[in-house]
Amino acid sequence: MDFQNKSFLTLFLFLLFSSIFPLSFSAANKPLHADKLHPFGSSAVFPVHGNVYPLGYYTVTLNIGYPPKLYDLDIDSGSDLTWVQCDAPCKGCTKPHDQLYKPKNNLVQCVDQLCAGVHLTSDHHCDSPDDQCDYEVEYADHGSSLGVLVRDSIPLQLTNGSVLHPNIAFGCGYDQKYSGSASLPSTTGVLGLGNGRTSILSQLHSLGLIRNVVGHCLSGQGGGFLFFGDDFIPSSGIVWTPMLPSSSEKHYSLGPAELLFNGKPTAVKGLELIFDSGSSYTYFNSQAYNVVLDLVINDLKGKQLKRATEDASLPICWKGAKSFKSVSDVKNYFKPLALRFKKVKNSHMLIPPEGYLIVTKHGNVCLGILDGTEIGLGYLNILGDISLQDKMVIYDNERQQIGWISSNCDRIPNIDRDFDGGGFPHPYAANLGIFEDRCPAISQ
Ligand SMILES: *[C@@H]1O[C@H](CO)[C@@H](O)[C@H](O)[C@H]1NC(C)=O
Repeated sequence: MDFQNKSFLTLFLFLLFSSIFPLSFSAANKPLHADKLHPFGSSAVFPVHGNVYPLGYYTVTLNIGYPPKLYDLDIDSGSDLTWVQCDAPCKGCTKPHDQLYKPKNNLVQCVDQLCAGVHLTSDHHCDSPDDQCDYEVEYADHGSSLGVLVRDSIPLQLTNGSVLHPNIAFGCGYDQKYSGSASLPSTTGVLGLGNGRTSILSQLHSLGLIRNVVGHCLSGQGGGFLFFGDDFIPSSGIVWTPMLPSSSEKHYSLGPAELLFNGKPTAVKGLELIFDSGSSYTYFNSQAYNVVLDLVINDLKGKQLKRATEDASLPICWKGAKSFKSVSDVKNYFKPLALRFKKVKNSHMLIPPEGYLIVTKHGNVCLGILDGTEIGLGYLNILGDISLQDKMVIYDNERQQIGWISSNCDRIPNIDRDFDGGGFPHPYAANLGIFEDRCPAISQ
């Protein structure tokens, strides 16, 4: 289907073991004991590009290797593993050769703790200690990546001013499949933000470098920012809700929640929701979806919107007398939704019309909430980018909680550091995370 232009939600992560590549030595990281390094020095922030419509994804550009090369990665809080397209004989690599990652004697070994740690089934075994660590990751939209784990330096500029070059394991994907008829992605891979041990954040945390906290702020205007660490978290105004225990290691999820329509309770209760920045749209199970659809349709009765059946962008669309330019043209026709999380007082997530509608290139307005059961998600519910826009959303793996606050995501906030008794000499600019190549020139 046309609208599934985006991978989302990792359901399965298999690591396989074989020897497709000749084995080579991998430089071992020496994990430090995180608690001895208290307080953690810092955070890292990355500008985000992309939008919900028409692109359907948000990306971060990450420097990898030495000398560093830039990789445009889809940010995905629904999966752990970060991978880039691999310059090995490759099926499903969409990028020109010079933009692929070339492994160079830096394969992670099968016996490496990280390889064992991510293997979800109990049959992790290595035929030979020299085996490489293969992985396969499959997304809920049936896209997948198969490859081998490598370890390389990922230069990061931290908010305390230091530039680090930690050695981080990630996937080098040499066999990708993309879902359905969707157009091929323009990204080079996926940045997995989940809290499994393979994620970049978990690795930075176990190296004692950054708190195990990640947040994103996706702008409805497109763009935004992403951060690792807790420096950017506002000191007040955040609603924190405990993660579901089942969510740890797999997805970030909250619940049970009830759905409010225009501030009033609906028949939808007991929802568990996965926060998934890798999904463009929001998916409810059929039962909840049908309730929402009825509420929205009934509420439009007598208003000047007609169903637009010729717009193939999404299943449910409406047109007005004139074509619409943005959701603000139709805001008055639609009511806000909200999720109320039962376990925490005042834990409310408001989903304004901008959080569940898009205006298409045909000038129609379409419902950005989809029936997940229909595409095989069963009873899962997924809050995708559309509903996470214009909020800072923070996944705090240290305290096992998720927080959010309405934010202007168009600029990276300044941070007041009480570190070293002083602030930053200059306002925090967008050159963090992605920064100039500071490596000495390598003679060709
Ligand atoms: C910044 O933080 C990192 C990671 O915690 C630490 O290794 C580094 O020494 C710190 N730099 C400064 C200037 O404090």
